Amino acid sequence: MRNIFVFWFAFLFLPIENKAQSFSIIPQPVSIEQQDGSFSFSPQIKIVFDKDEAVNANYLNSYLAKYYLVRPLIQPNIKKYIALRLLSSKQKSFSPDEYFLTITPDSIVITGTDAGIFYGIQTLLQLMPIESKMQFDIPCLTIHDYPRFSWRGMHLDCSRHLFSVEFIKKYIDMMAYYKMNTFHWHLTDDQGWRIEIKQYPKLTEIGSRRKETIVAKNFDPYIGDKTPYDGFYNQEQIKEIVKYASQRHVNIVPEIEMPGHSQAAIAAYPELACYGMSYDVLTKWGVSDVVLCPTPEVIQFYENILDEVMALFPGEYIHVGGDEVPDEHWEKSTQVPALMKQLGLTTYPQVEAYFINTIEKYLILKGKKMIGWDEILDGGVSSNASIMSWRGTEGGIAAAKHGNYAVMTPGDYCYFDHCQSKNSMEPLCIGGFLPLEKVYNYEPIASELNPDQANYILGAQANVWTEYLSTTDQIEYMVFPRMIALSEVVWSQKSNKEWWNFVGRIQNQFELMEFRKINYRVPEPEIQLRPLEENKFTLGISSLKQNSDFYYTIDGSVPTSASTKYSESIVIALTANQKIRAIAITKTGKKSIVVETVNN
Ligand code: ACM
Repeated sequence: MRNIFVFWFAFLFLPIENKAQSFSIIPQPVSIEQQDGSFSFSPQIKIVFDKDEAVNANYLNSYLAKYYLVRPLIQPNIKKYIALRLLSSKQKSFSPDEYFLTITPDSIVITGTDAGIFYGIQTLLQLMPIESKMQFDIPCLTIHDYPRFSWRGMHLDCSRHLFSVEFIKKYIDMMAYYKMNTFHWHLTDDQGWRIEIKQYPKLTEIGSRRKETIVAKNFDPYIGDKTPYDGFYNQEQIKEIVKYASQRHVNIVPEIEMPGHSQAAIAAYPELACYGMSYDVLTKWGVSDVVLCPTPEVIQFYENILDEVMALFPGEYIHVGGDEVPDEHWEKSTQVPALMKQLGLTTYPQVEAYFINTIEKYLILKGKKMIGWDEILDGGVSSNASIMSWRGTEGGIAAAKHGNYAVMTPGDYCYFDHCQSKNSMEPLCIGGFLPLEKVYNYEPIASELNPDQANYILGAQANVWTEYLSTTDQIEYMVFPRMIALSEVVWSQKSNKEWWNFVGRIQNQFELMEFRKINYRVPEPEIQLRPLEENKFTLGISSLKQNSDFYYTIDGSVPTSASTKYSESIVIALTANQKIRAIAITKTGKKSIVVETVNN
């Protein structure tokens, strides 16, 4: 019976609605002003747009046709219209993602640069009802908005498990809807090489295939599933995804891991290693000792790979991994001690730095920028490299202090493979504990940084490692609703962020996820027992999602929709050690995990 009063009142008083909040826009815009009246959507409306805005106009038109059966003609019309008005990015004082959205009874006008207009469209879409209908009104408003950070990232590990082109597009669509703009695509690792490289076909012929996969966490004794696993993205599929993403203002940062996490590549081309003879693609999780040999031949091999990668991905950044590089094989090799002597290197992090810095010079030569995990700082990194801070915030802080750009993705706040509750009913997750509120309250600018140094923090990103996530339903469960919280961390002004206000606005997004068939994590109920007298309690059940139905049992059985339905707080009797178990079920039948409280 400890600690169960803490939340007693918390859910009973959801945020007092203010005008801006009642529009449920996430991430919260910089400013919203409501005017009287509304704009009426109907099949008669038109979209008018400036010459270079065809992609955004078509995007909006397809969205309206798909979800609202409204298919506006894209042509000028003086009566009812949506106008996309392009400003040049050089226009004074307009930032790249900034927009104005003005809704009057006669028109909707979105003004911005190309990306800004796209974000204005996303805000407009969030003002629309979450049901398919042809006629509806949206309120007259003026919104001015721009992001706090330029790197608003989501990562997906497609090495440990591979996900279809169709799913990647859905992932990008949902990112765009919340104004996330950077998709970090983890394409290579010990357990699978997933990008076609024409010059080295064995990378996919051999490197994309593992003979089986470890079952759950059965490391010792090892148990494999005896089922071969393979697959990769061919270059045509990659081009298709890059184009799809660019139309949604999502830049893709491909990650080609080096010199660690490379066992799949080495399985395909054993000459890439400098110790041992031959290796299989790894079938269990963890960090492999099998790493690339830092010789000129291997570096040349990777430069050749990067030539093809750079031709596929037009964005400025290439991610080179650089994390978790065991040095055991380097130490045992003949090449690395010789190289160290030749170059005057005394530590293995310096050997890694030699590898990474050589690759960086090549990328710069080709007009690209390099980003890597924070280990690349350890042996000395060039001032041009950008750092992804994952082992905590220290790497990002050190980078910013040195004048290196950094993206904050510390495990404790940004690892969406971490568990969302400590409940034993939570589906398999890697460990850790990262609930929605903790993501929401993450602040990417560490207090150690002064304002100049803070300018080197590009933004933040969530990482979705997929050792324990083999299906798209599992990915969606881990990403939603946490990505929605992250979107506000990276887009909204700090002064516009407040947890309970967000909880009020996210209600609409839960409905949207039901509508879009996203397997989001339904917030579990909170059971509150307030003691009245010996073994008698007032029972309250609530959750972060307001209109779920709650069901409970007091006989130890798993609650279902056939169990007692909770409607308002009631008095119940529980004997010593008797359990009360509860579940939340949404209107489409999606279930939360089961929670329980014991009278002890
Ligand atoms: C990482 O999570 N190893 C970057």
